[in-house]
Amino acid sequence: MDLNRLKERFVSLYGNGNNKPSVFFAPGRVNLIGEHTDYNGGYVFPCALQYGTYLIARKNTDGIIRMASMNFPGELAVPSSKPLEKQGDHWFNYPLGVLDQFVKKGFVLHGMEMLFAGDIPNGSGLSSSASIEVVTAFTVNEFLSADLDLIELIKMSQEAEHAFAGVNCGIMDQFAVGMGEKNHAVFLNCHTLEYKLVPVLLPGYCLIVANTNKKRGLADSKYNERVAECNEAVNLMKLHFGIDRLGEMSFMQFFKFQDSIADPVIRKRARHVISENQRVLNAVSCLLKSDLIGFGALMNASHESLRDNYEVTGKELDTLVDEAQQINGTLGARMTGAGFGGCTVNLVKESAIEEFMEKVGKGYRKRIGLEATFYKGEISDGVRKIQ
Ligand code: GLA
Repeated sequence: MDLNRLKERFVSLYGNGNNKPSVFFAPGRVNLIGEHTDYNGGYVFPCALQYGTYLIARKNTDGIIRMASMNFPGELAVPSSKPLEKQGDHWFNYPLGVLDQFVKKGFVLHGMEMLFAGDIPNGSGLSSSASIEVVTAFTVNEFLSADLDLIELIKMSQEAEHAFAGVNCGIMDQFAVGMGEKNHAVFLNCHTLEYKLVPVLLPGYCLIVANTNKKRGLADSKYNERVAECNEAVNLMKLHFGIDRLGEMSFMQFFKFQDSIADPVIRKRARHVISENQRVLNAVSCLLKSDLIGFGALMNASHESLRDNYEVTGKELDTLVDEAQQINGTLGARMTGAGFGGCTVNLVKESAIEEFMEKVGKGYRKRIGLEATFYKGEISDGVRKIQ
């Protein structure tokens, strides 16, 4: 990111002012395994990426909150003393939702100028929205001297997404964006928020993120539909076990009582969540004993379940994964994030990267008619102040 360009744009929008603006950054994330388990109180294993959202910002004294972005058109100016309102389906909702969380906690907002700039491809499922939310929360926390801890800011960012973006997301994205650490993945229990940073050592291998470049369309409503289906499964399983979320069930318990879920669709959804939860535990232990082959096999199994049981993949993601799995140096390939488009994550031998990009790109183009984009995933630190 060219920070000088960002500063110039800031000055051209808001003038020189009396005090210097500060620059903050929050990364995007890629989830290695544990998909659609977070809102079920299960385990996830994501890591923060090198790409993310920069926020250059400054407090002002005129009581107006102003925001703009280098990526999207439009500027917003709202009085800090009036209730904040949703703006249709505009990107402003992410920072506004976070500001509203501070108001809900009893903090008094004041004027500020904010310019956002992101290098995460939009709609790629790499959590550009969570990175906007968390960088806003981190910045406002400093500007208001609110002194809230990072976990609290993460929870507020998730709540902002529910209230202002209308997506009933789990906590994985905001948590990874906030707590990620260079060369580590975040092994998180989404129910207790207990977590451990696990070193990701991949000697001779690397993570390749591949973008289907398919617009995600109805993804948000489909996402909320899956959340509702899981709740339905919980209500049925409650009759046998005193559970409040699917993540509390072992695969054995599910296996024994799965027939009490009469609807085959709901049963499949639950099967995915419960088996995926177990795959996360297995994947972490594979990584800890440097068993990359085992880790890759679990990635492949995760995709299969997301495709057949959870039905959130679609032909673009399935094709990209299928092409990737045909490359000799690929140990594992799966969709990452919510699905319905977006990206895959692939564990690939360093020496096969070029072949991977060329052949997978070609196969995908031929079968789908779209151009895939590839990025080498570097596992990076979470939210921070840069300047
Ligand atoms: C989206 C949501 C997350 C999580 C994933 C699926 O990224 O924001 O909370 O549910 O989908 O694992």
